[in-house]
Amino acid sequence: MNKNIAVIRGDGIGPEIVGQALRVLDRIAEKFGHTFTYEDVDMGGCAIDKWGEPLPRHMLDKCLASDSVLLGAVGGPKWDNVEPARRPEKGLLSLRGSMGLYSNNRPARLWPQLAEASPLKPSVVEKGIDFIVVRELIGGVYFGDHTTSEKNGEKEAVDIMAYTEHEIERIGRIGFETARKRRRKLTSVDKANVLDTSRLWRAVMHRLAEEYPDVEYSDMLVDNAAMQIVKDPSQFDVIVTENLFGDILSDEASMITGSIGMIPSSSLGAGSRGLYEPIHGSAPDIAGQNKANPIGTILSAAMMCRYSFDMAAEADAIEAAVEKALDAGLRTGDMMAEGCRLVSCSEMGDAILSYI
Ligand code: IPM
Ligand code: MG
Repeated sequence: MNKNIAVIRGDGIGPEIVGQALRVLDRIAEKFGHTFTYEDVDMGGCAIDKWGEPLPRHMLDKCLASDSVLLGAVGGPKWDNVEPARRPEKGLLSLRGSMGLYSNNRPARLWPQLAEASPLKPSVVEKGIDFIVVRELIGGVYFGDHTTSEKNGEKEAVDIMAYTEHEIERIGRIGFETARKRRRKLTSVDKANVLDTSRLWRAVMHRLAEEYPDVEYSDMLVDNAAMQIVKDPSQFDVIVTENLFGDILSDEASMITGSIGMIPSSSLGAGSRGLYEPIHGSAPDIAGQNKANPIGTILSAAMMCRYSFDMAAEADAIEAAVEKALDAGLRTGDMMAEGCRLVSCSEMGDAILSYI
């Protein structure tokens, strides 16, 4: 197969981790007889520096013309004081919105090799952590109006959170369908005791639940969900939730698995074209030092193969190679443990390549 991949290296550690993921994709192409071509896209702080805005139209067009997009990370302290409409994060939000990527899927799985790195007690970790957060990605407070105005001699800031029934239904369906492919358990997270958007969310989910009698469905309030994720994560299979709650809970979920550096994600819309990115940020403190963990990005490339390109064997090969590198005791600094060997970002890439 021929696939055209838009590549956003971005800021901070982005270029280093994406570089390793591209080496892995090249190896896969060679081994399985595919051709991957890469189209470089400037987005984030680097695009602000070069073009004056975080996602220039001609860059967005490259993403829209691609078969899928691979992203490292964007942002950093250098652009902290840029006006809100031109911040690096704004580029990412416009990309998600313009590509119509309403479904963000973030797996939280404990790698047995990294069990010690989890901050949870062994008695909790032993029960296993293997769930996925399905986050609505282009609605809610992220995409409502944001305004700051003068009111009675002081400033007032307002962020609008809105959801329509069809926006809830389409992500709800992804939640149920994802559960069907796993252990058939779906937890819908909301704040229906306070928010109207959550009450509508819950009503739509209950309607859908009737269509999926084979999926064990339950509702959970978001504050309780935050607690349950650290108390007994083994109870979860699939969590479906709105944009902001999903942002927060997916960071919490990643932390308990040991290292946020390991977690990939996919963002999908109506078609097969997706955006694939590790869920960690640009880590400016270690940028350019060849220290970052490239695995989250490498596993994102594996997800791209699986979900956008229908290349299951290729995805399996990447995931198995990561597993072997961990089995061999190789660790980047973020997940280093006693008895293991500390390796650089590129050495981790070398090792994973050697196992494909
Ligand atoms: C994420 C990030 C983004 C988000 C930021 C960078 C805008 O935290 O992908 O989770 O809040 O969605
Ligand atoms: Mg986040």
